[in-house]
Amino acid sequence: MSNQTDQSRAVSVVILKGGVGKSTISMNLARQLTKRGRVLFADLDPNGHATNGLGYEKAYRGDTHLGNVLLDQGDATVGDIIRETPFEFDLLPSSNVLEDVEKELAGALQGSARVKTKIVDPLLGDHYDYIVFDCPAYPGMLNNNALVATGNVIIPLEPGTSSIGGYKRTMDRLIKPALEYIDIEVLALVPNKLRERIDHRTEDRELLENLNTAETTREKVPNFARITDEEFEAIDCGELRPPKPGIRYSAALSKSLKEHQPLLDYDPENTQLENFEELAAIVENGGVDR
Ligand SMILES: Nc1ncnc2c1ncn2[C@@H]1O[C@H](COP(=O)(O)OP(=O)(O)OP(=O)(O)O)[C@@H](O)[C@H]1O
Ligand SMILES: [Mg+2]
Repeated sequence: MSNQTDQSRAVSVVILKGGVGKSTISMNLARQLTKRGRVLFADLDPNGHATNGLGYEKAYRGDTHLGNVLLDQGDATVGDIIRETPFEFDLLPSSNVLEDVEKELAGALQGSARVKTKIVDPLLGDHYDYIVFDCPAYPGMLNNNALVATGNVIIPLEPGTSSIGGYKRTMDRLIKPALEYIDIEVLALVPNKLRERIDHRTEDRELLENLNTAETTREKVPNFARITDEEFEAIDCGELRPPKPGIRYSAALSKSLKEHQPLLDYDPENTQLENFEELAAIVENGGVDR
């Protein structure tokens, strides 16, 4: 294939908290990655928000679904489930029975490795250069499968204490337990829905300052949200105009989903696309490049 990159990579977009932007970020990241290689966008969240948001309600309610492949039911192969889309990536749709499938996975032999053996191992490198998973907001077999299958995570965050709590839960209940058995690389911590000033004590400021100062997190902050100690000081002295870090809250981002499109298709000139471009580079490079 002409545009195959040297290194293919699969990544899970995950945080154990709803509504932070997993679907928005995973879908737009997948869309941006199509400029770098062949992409599969996999919706592993039983709520199907990304699948339905892209207009694939019929697939979400289809009789043949991802669960058939994961649980070896019938003759369905992953190729029967995957849909081509107008957005240059293929879609592995979620299914309205995925919650039941998750329960069955709990009792299945190698139930945490099914997504790896049935989807990622056969497809990554051969059919796709990148596979991006949109994950559920709760711990369980689907998230375990995503971690085992990808070994890479991107964690979205939003201003407010509950999102920090969600981040801690994600580390304590999902990532750290899994690290006992597999390697997991946190590729990036991605602040989303920023809309307040950061030269005042706002929740936006608190999130950005926390992420950018703590030793364990600051190397994971994309350049579009990176603010150094010196820059914070300069901002507070009025010497530096506060930057407007991404990913900002934007009507275009929420509207694009209602119009069944990634942002790149909905509004190709939107300045927020730069943020997804950096996320795509982070996935290609395997981490943040300063
Ligand atoms: N940067 C943003 N600007 C404006 N709206 C946003 C932004 N990010 C997400 N949203 C909106 O916030 C809502 C939640 O986002 P999204 O569905 O991506 O989160 P999620 O983590 O996948 O949620 P869930 O856990 O319910 O699946 C959606 O309505 C989405 O359109
Ligand atoms: Mg979602």
